[in-house]
Amino acid sequence: MTATVSGRPEHEALSNKKSTPLISMRNIQKSFGSVHALRGASVDVHAGEIVALVGDNGAGKSTLVKVMAGVHAADSGDYEIEGKPVNIRTPADATAQGIATVYQDLALCNNLDAVQNLFLGRELTGPGIFGHRVRRAECEVRAREVMTRMRLGNLSLTRPVGAMSGGQRQNIAIARSILWKPKVVILDEPTAALSHSAAQQVADLIRSLADDGLGIVIVSHDIHHFVVNSTDRIEVMRLGANAASFRSRDVTGEMVVNAMVGGNEGVNLAG
Ligand SMILES: Nc1ncnc2c1ncn2[C@@H]1O[C@H](COP(=O)(O)OP(=O)(O)OP(=O)(O)O)[C@@H](O)[C@H]1O
Ligand SMILES: [Mg+2]
Repeated sequence: MTATVSGRPEHEALSNKKSTPLISMRNIQKSFGSVHALRGASVDVHAGEIVALVGDNGAGKSTLVKVMAGVHAADSGDYEIEGKPVNIRTPADATAQGIATVYQDLALCNNLDAVQNLFLGRELTGPGIFGHRVRRAECEVRAREVMTRMRLGNLSLTRPVGAMSGGQRQNIAIARSILWKPKVVILDEPTAALSHSAAQQVADLIRSLADDGLGIVIVSHDIHHFVVNSTDRIEVMRLGANAASFRSRDVTGEMVVNAMVGGNEGVNLAG
């Protein structure tokens, strides 16, 4: 299918992709009382693409991904999934549309093991002596499949995740997000507080998910390493709107930071 975002040439230029985006958000507005957090923000996410959302504190990145994930309802603007207008008002709406989110705090239960965390709240259950009980063996098989697909086959499924490293916990949170086969995964600061090598592992994992055809949206402050080296496209937000767009391979961290602080107005080097 060819690009269908007619009347929006600036964003066709941004992605330079021929497919209909998995997600297309246009002119999103969101206020919290008197705080105008989003002032016409837009973003596209294509299958197989890693999009970084960057910007200074308070630029509106988290608010935009929360609108995408149904945590906040937009006040106005257009939200399309695979070319069709959608009305996403709750996290359940977003999940039903194939959008998964890995929040910054990971929302893992430290006293539970990887299998329990993967299936938290959505356990495979079946009839047992005391009514429905979790079908642990089946959950374990499913968990092992996902972990193997993510090349994390050697991660313990039975150790409490509280005893694991930050990188391992991040990987388990990502595994949980893809368990139900989403189309898009949103990650808020996936490499914050990780060592260089753990961050690289997470970056490799995210790339392999994109190679499998998922669209990935990442909020990150790690401009000089993760963002410029491990993403495909960079959307710079400032004061609730888009300030610049870059193709990651064409920019330096310094250029991105300049755009974040207002050094080069309205830059579009994304192609
Ligand atoms: N639930 C809320 N209630 C009131 N104001 C909010 C709420 N969430 C965000 N804001 C405000 O909206 C603006 C954008 O915040 P947002 O969290 O989206 O920024 P951000 O780009 O994610 O920043 P950071 O890099 O610090 O995480 C800020 O002024 C913030 O104070
Ligand atoms: Mg934020």
